Amino acid sequence: MILLTGITGNNGGATANALLKLGIKFRALVRDLDKAADWANKGVELVQGDLEDSASVQAALEGIDRAVLILPNGEDQQRLELSFIETAKQAGLPWLLKLSSPEAVRGTTSPIPLAHIAAEDAIMASGMNWTFVRPSFFMQNFRSSPAMAKSTGKLSMPMGNGTVALTDCTDAGAFIAHVLTDDNSAQHYGQCYDISGPDPVMNFNDIARMIGESIGQDVAYDDCDAAVFQEAIRPFHRNDWHSDAVAYLFEEIANGETPGIKTNSYQEIMGQPGTSFKEFLQKLS
Ligand SMILES: NC(=O)c1ccc[n+]([C@@H]2O[C@H](COP(=O)([O-])OP(=O)(O)OC[C@H]3O[C@@H](n4cnc5c(N)ncnc54)[C@H](OP(=O)(O)O)[C@@H]3O)[C@@H](O)[C@H]2O)c1
Repeated sequence: MILLTGITGNNGGATANALLKLGIKFRALVRDLDKAADWANKGVELVQGDLEDSASVQAALEGIDRAVLILPNGEDQQRLELSFIETAKQAGLPWLLKLSSPEAVRGTTSPIPLAHIAAEDAIMASGMNWTFVRPSFFMQNFRSSPAMAKSTGKLSMPMGNGTVALTDCTDAGAFIAHVLTDDNSAQHYGQCYDISGPDPVMNFNDIARMIGESIGQDVAYDDCDAAVFQEAIRPFHRNDWHSDAVAYLFEEIANGETPGIKTNSYQEIMGQPGTSFKEFLQKLS
């Protein structure tokens, strides 16, 4: 039996949809049963819990042989993930799959990747079987860009000449569901899958051009002031820690410290390419 966290979020929701499509029964730990009610209607077994409450995690893990750990970025992400990992280890969980990030590279000083590294290290030291799924920069980060570009004619992000490889969250969910339900699950133990879509690595001029093509008008990349951008994104994040950490991450991308890397893992494991950015933009319109 699978336990899924984060079902009310982007990647947990995508994983849940993919599992349902495969006809797999699973359990999801949710903080708010009402918020997750639609999932119960679709046949998902919901258990109320919170990663702040180890007893609720322990109860949710009863009868579980594989679990997916997905948490949002925040100053408490590392603490909550370490707590989940310890509870899972104590419960004798056989296999833990964690959603991580390819930016979690030794030597980074960026808070979000550092939290992922700490959790990955704890999982590898736990004795549990493990798999890390590390999608590249999400296409969903551009969800509102076409609408903005229609009115401004610009894609305003402080990304300099930085580059990214792009992944659709829906593909990340499909990939996680596939790995979890593969008949030969052991082949995924101890694997760190950095996944990306089929597009080549792009800079933000390329991305602006593609957004322009999708809306039928010219869109210019505006390498805007990082400090102004940092203030502009505050209302869209949970707290200042999150917006500051995202700004820090973007600065690393802009500086070329974490260049985008396209990988073939998705194609190799899934036997087909993931969603292209063009297809993603078409889905938005
Ligand atoms: N942005 C990118 O380009 C990118 C790329 C690769 C990896 N990532 C990684 O993706 C992860 C975020 O995934 P996401 O976008 O799917 O997140 P998300 O949409 O923000 O969803 C987060 C989920 O976690 C749940 N949650 C939050 N706190 C919880 C707690 N204390 N106990 C139990 N559940 C809790 C939320 O439930 P509620 O509904 O109750 O809030 C929600 O279901 C991050 O770790 C990030 O580093 C991001």
